[in-house]
Amino acid sequence: MSTTVWTNEGLKLDSFAETALTAATRFWFGVTVIGQLIFAFAVASFYGMAAVRGNSARAWSNHITHGYVPGDTLGNLTVFVHLMSAPIVILAGMIQLIPRIRERAPFFHRWNGRLYMVSAFIVSLAGLSMTWVRGSVGDLIQHLGSSLMAVLIMICAVMALRYALARDFRTHRRWALRLYLVVSASLFIRAGFFLSIFLNHGPFGFDPTTFSGPFLTFMTFAQYVVPLAVLELYLRAKDSPGALRRMATAGVLFVLTLGMGAGILVVTMAVWMPEVKAAYDPRQSIVGILSATIASSGMDQAVQQYHDLKATQAAAYNFDEGELNTLGYQLIRARKLKEAIRVFQLNIEVYPRSSNAYDSLAEGYMDDGDKVRAIANYEKALQLNPKNGNSAGMLQKLTAR
Ligand code: HEM
Repeated sequence: MSTTVWTNEGLKLDSFAETALTAATRFWFGVTVIGQLIFAFAVASFYGMAAVRGNSARAWSNHITHGYVPGDTLGNLTVFVHLMSAPIVILAGMIQLIPRIRERAPFFHRWNGRLYMVSAFIVSLAGLSMTWVRGSVGDLIQHLGSSLMAVLIMICAVMALRYALARDFRTHRRWALRLYLVVSASLFIRAGFFLSIFLNHGPFGFDPTTFSGPFLTFMTFAQYVVPLAVLELYLRAKDSPGALRRMATAGVLFVLTLGMGAGILVVTMAVWMPEVKAAYDPRQSIVGILSATIASSGMDQAVQQYHDLKATQAAAYNFDEGELNTLGYQLIRARKLKEAIRVFQLNIEVYPRSSNAYDSLAEGYMDDGDKVRAIANYEKALQLNPKNGNSAGMLQKLTAR
């Protein structure tokens, strides 16, 4: 009798463990797909619409360290190729994993698979070139970490293709899953990065001016090492009859998915929604116009132009707070620090209650070597928003020196 009870109990536990693992996997895949759809849509909208409107230079310069470099046609083309292949590789990979499509449309699966492999190679090679030839944020270890990711993407793509051609579909599936995870690392790192900023109310474990530091170094590797490790756990749990292993894997997957979901929510609200809004905003940006005026006629003329346009064509142009902020950072990157400070000051005149505007002005002063004014403006930013973690961190740094 006792043997029967044990056997029944064991069967129940096994079936519970199997259900838990399937549920955790579906939950993870569902959250990842939602994140990928939003990410791909935001990238395609933001950079695509900018290209349609002839604003690519501005859009790239806002989000990428060496986004648009006048005269460097090959380098600019590399950035363009990276950005355009990013949504393709995300979407193609996602479609490959949907079982119904695989089963009902094998022809489509094969062609989409080819597109996926080619775009995975293109995005990786362009990423490598942007890292080592163009130059990017972060330090050497971070560059090595993201380069390893590029190499892993290409290795997984080749292995998946090799086993598909050999008609060893079990091994093909394993490599395809690995490929999917390493490609999805670009989503995981954004979710983790923005979640850390949200929880810490400001930069966590890295220097916001150089984008290097222990947390970012950790994330550069963890973005693909952790998912690959969890996949190996999953594959072993699937292969082994042990209920405990399956339940433990389901638990790990569930907790990681909760964290990832929270991160996706944060990055969507903080970055992707504003990007999509900007992409379809019918108003014309003032950044390019003012930037051209600064270059041709100087700062005073640009300030005058800003006021004139606001008085006469307020509906046609975008006067949101982010516009002058963007222009200011463009000038900082061009090392036109006095002009950047004037632009940030203008933003404060228009948005005197904005903590972020004071934070940017403080950065302008800091880069210009005016520590006293930098501190005063970080203090003001913190006074307007005591949760402004960046201002708090920078104040700590500046007053400790
Ligand atoms: C495979 C999936 C990848 C996707 C979907 C992707 C997507 C993107 C996107 C959308 C950007 C623009 C910044 C933004 O709007 O967030 C970007 C920038 C960049 N990517 Fe990728 N990327 C991928 C892989 C890689 C790899 C493997 C590397 C490195 C070898 C790389 C290197 C870079 C660099 C250097 C930048 C510019 C960062 C900066 O300096 O500001 N990417 N990527």
